[in-house]
Order: sequence, then C-alpha cells, then structure tokens
Amino acid sequence: MTATPSIIPALEWRYATKQFDPAKKIPDAEVHELTESLRLSASSFGLQPWKFIVVRDPALRAKIKEHAWNQSQVTDASHLIVLAARKDIHDDYIRKFVTATAKARNTTIEALKGYEDIMLGTVRNMPPEAITAWNQRQVYIALGTLLLTAAQKGIDACPMEGFDPKKVDEVLGMTDYTVTALCPIGYRASTDKYAGAAKVRFPASEIVEYC
Ligand SMILES: Cc1cc2nc3c(=O)[nH]c(=O)nc-3n(C[C@H](O)[C@H](O)[C@H](O)COP(=O)(O)O)c2cc1C
Repeated sequence: MTATPSIIPALEWRYATKQFDPAKKIPDAEVHELTESLRLSASSFGLQPWKFIVVRDPALRAKIKEHAWNQSQVTDASHLIVLAARKDIHDDYIRKFVTATAKARNTTIEALKGYEDIMLGTVRNMPPEAITAWNQRQVYIALGTLLLTAAQKGIDACPMEGFDPKKVDEVLGMTDYTVTALCPIGYRASTDKYAGAAKVRFPASEIVEYC
C-alpha cells in the first residue's frame, strides 16, 4: 500500500449535511464502495456484530422520518443507511466466526481453540445489556469509517442519533438487532447554509497530548 494524499482536506470539506438535494442520486458503484467500507470496519475480536440496511424505498423512509424528529435528510438524501447492532452474541455466533476465520486463513478450528475460548469467556461473563452496548460501540466505529469514506469520495452524509430506536426497530421489523445510528448519504443542496458554516473544533493544544 503506497502512501495516499492527506485525508484532512476531505475532513474539512465534510459536514453533517442538513439539506440534501433530492434530485441527485449516488451511482450504485459508489454506494457499493460505501457499504464495503462498512463491511471492512474494525470491530472488537473482529466479531462484526452488526447489520447495515440501505433503505431506498421512499415509503419506508417516510415512516422512519416520522420517528426521526422529522429530519428531512431521512427522505431527501439519495440513500439512507441504517446501522444496527446485534442485541446478543451467543456461543453459536462465536463458533460461526471461528469457522469463517479458519476458512479465510486456511487453518483449522482446533488451532483457533484458544482464541475461541477467550471470546466465549468474554461474552459469557457479560450481562445481555452490556453485550448490546458493546456491539453498539462497534457500530459507531463503522459509522466513523463510513463518514471518512464518504468524505474521501466527495459524498455528503449526516450521522444521526436523533430518532426513536424502538420505533425504527419496529418499522424495519428488527428482532435480533437494534438500530443504533442512521446515516443519510447523497449530495448537499446548494441552499444548505450549514455547508459554509465554520467548523467548531477545540484546538489541538487542548485535546491532543504527547507524552
Ligand atoms: C453520533 C452522532 C449523532 C448525530 N445526530 C445528529 C442528528 O440526529 N441530526 C443532525 O442533523 N446531526 C446529527 N449529528 C451531527 C453533529 O451535530 C455534527 O457532526 C457536529 O455538530 C459536528 O459538526 P460537523 O460534523 O458538521 O463537522 C450527529 C453526529 C454524531 C456523530
């Protein structure tokens, strides 16, 4: 992998888009690249306790918007990505992951027994709510990866927690997963006044330390 140009200009360009241009659609290949960035995100142990739903259906998006503070981005953006976390991690899920690891790395399940035991020991000691919260933290990493990838590609996005998760779970028929974040993606409207607003960030001297 060769060094790539700085990501900083893209991060300065991006902002949480308030107004999308409903007429502009992201080509399928670009949407695929964004979903690949989600799939390739880092997660604790590599367990990938998530699901990502690309909602294109306008009727479904209108229903979600009702439970998302009526934020126009949900229906106006080119696509709506729903990021959901697994509620539980059962032994079976860990075994499925170990099997996938053995296959991908051309090794045996037996050789991965130590790794499997650490994962089983970790999740068996966690109360169910803690597992859900842990999984949701992984989903936020994926959200960050998505925002970065979108910015790098000149695609606008708005990370969102402003919604009622129980209601959105119901709309999408979620049972084993819970919706953790929404991320409309598309292209900013020329009338979005937030596009030109200065970034508000504390200085590095306050938030970055070297020791
Ligand atoms: C987890 C999370 C949830 C957010 N929820 C919303 C939201 O529901 N609606 C919205 O318009 N912006 C939302 N934002 C956007 C933030 O307000 C925005 O990222 C922040 O003000 C920094 O500005 P910038 O991203 O434009 O640089 C959210 C951001 C994050 C990271």
